Amino acid sequence: MNGTILIVDDDEDTAVLLRDSLRKRGFDVDAVTSGQAALEHLRTSPADVVVTDVQMAGISGIELCQELRQRHPDLLPIVLTGQGGLDTAIAAIRAGAYDFITKPVKVDALAISVGRAIEHLSLKREVKRLRSAADRDVPIDGIAGNSPAIRETIELVRRVADSDATVLVTGESGTGKELVARALHNLSPRREQPFVAVNCAAMPAPLLESELFGHVRGAFTDAKRSRAGLFVQAGAGTIFLDEIGEMPIEMQVKLLRVLQERKVRPVGGDEEVPFEARVITATNRDLETEVDEKRFREDLFYRINVVAIPVPPLRARAGDILLLAQYFLKRIASRTNKPVQGISGPAARLLMDYDWPGNVRELENCMERAVALCRLDEITVDDLPAKIQEHQSSKIVITTESPGELITLDEMERRYVRQVLNAVGGNKTHAARILGIDRRSLYRRLEEPRNERKDDAKPGEVPRAAVPVDHRPPTAPPAHPAAPPMSAAGGQPGELE
Ligand SMILES: Nc1ncnc2c1ncn2[C@@H]1O[C@H](COP(=O)(O)OP(=O)(O)OP(=O)(O)O)[C@@H](O)[C@H]1O
Ligand SMILES: [Mg+2]
Repeated sequence: MNGTILIVDDDEDTAVLLRDSLRKRGFDVDAVTSGQAALEHLRTSPADVVVTDVQMAGISGIELCQELRQRHPDLLPIVLTGQGGLDTAIAAIRAGAYDFITKPVKVDALAISVGRAIEHLSLKREVKRLRSAADRDVPIDGIAGNSPAIRETIELVRRVADSDATVLVTGESGTGKELVARALHNLSPRREQPFVAVNCAAMPAPLLESELFGHVRGAFTDAKRSRAGLFVQAGAGTIFLDEIGEMPIEMQVKLLRVLQERKVRPVGGDEEVPFEARVITATNRDLETEVDEKRFREDLFYRINVVAIPVPPLRARAGDILLLAQYFLKRIASRTNKPVQGISGPAARLLMDYDWPGNVRELENCMERAVALCRLDEITVDDLPAKIQEHQSSKIVITTESPGELITLDEMERRYVRQVLNAVGGNKTHAARILGIDRRSLYRRLEEPRNERKDDAKPGEVPRAAVPVDHRPPTAPPAHPAAPPMSAAGGQPGELE
């Protein structure tokens, strides 16, 4: 970058001399003879550096610096000060000058100063460019994605990061729950404090209790000295209780008390110790169903579910599949020094069509494997796992028992509800949300019709369960391949896309 310079000096001879000398050194230079003329000139011809005399009629060099700071904050002024004008030099720097040169001006010294100013400017512009590119590519804290579903999650993370509220992060396995928990911590005022993660499924109740709440010396055979639990070790940071849905019921009671009183009692001790950490929990279970089925305490559920952050399954953020694939590809390729750049069209199609039951983790593993196998500069179909290559994009098909079988709307609805439930791994809350009904209606719609009782039907009405109920798994192929599947949407036969 050569840079554009504007010389401002009310002595026209000096102005022309400086202009010509700098031009000879390769700069693009203009000259004017007053501060007012400089401001006017800059309105139409932007410059990178202004070299100005101080003593001028009208606007002085110092006033010009102040004005430039307001109107052209990216421009760097250099001031020419008279003999011994240290005070002037200080005033100039305070007014926003980048440098000063004492008179009589040595052109070489001026050229060096101008060169440095221009280098400074180009670095500043580069940093700005990189920062805005980074802002665009990585939304927050490593959570990549641009689909409306993940943007909603990210928005929620941003909104609650600052608060101390207990958060319950829910979502299928591999959706990024731990990533969300870490983002909550990293965006919170607690970010300099510890983030302590505990997997509640990994330990039996007594061990978990001593891990979480600590123990005193002699509390059990191996307890040779007392030890603070993780709630206390987390200090003023965050404690992340992962897989809370698997916590043994006897621990649930204890945890509830701890959360209510914000104190822990170490195993074997009789004194309670206060803790400051923020509590974040996560589960891939449907806790409302766990509560209904008495496997999770309702009071604890309400205590941890102050703010719920659902992390959507990958199949509900179709727009993110390729974005994440490319994101992992770049990361893995640079880590492993492989020259893989992209994904071929047919491979991308397969990635988009697959339903990703293992969510983002499965996609990450898939890309890891693909980069390892890849022999060209792009991932091809051959580099993908067989199950993705062979995957048939799943269309919703309501199966019937025989080619001629016709079923009631009620029956079709029941089969469809079962199918959605199956597609979300039996999570009733999630299925109800997709179907746009509440969970109670979902249960009702799943109920088998009462045995064909003639008296159920009013005269002239078709009995409700006019066809046998299909007990085959909803995704099973039709028993009679030739049978036309029922179309629920009236579009392509058999499809409910
Ligand atoms: N949006 C995302 N952007 C980038 N990486 C992601 C994203 N979501 C998940 N990952 C990556 O996918 C992997 C699985 O994420 P994570 O461990 O947070 O999932 P999880 O929901 O806690 O899974 P599990 O229920 O199995 O514990 C991690 O390597 C994580 O970094
Ligand atoms: Mg996890």
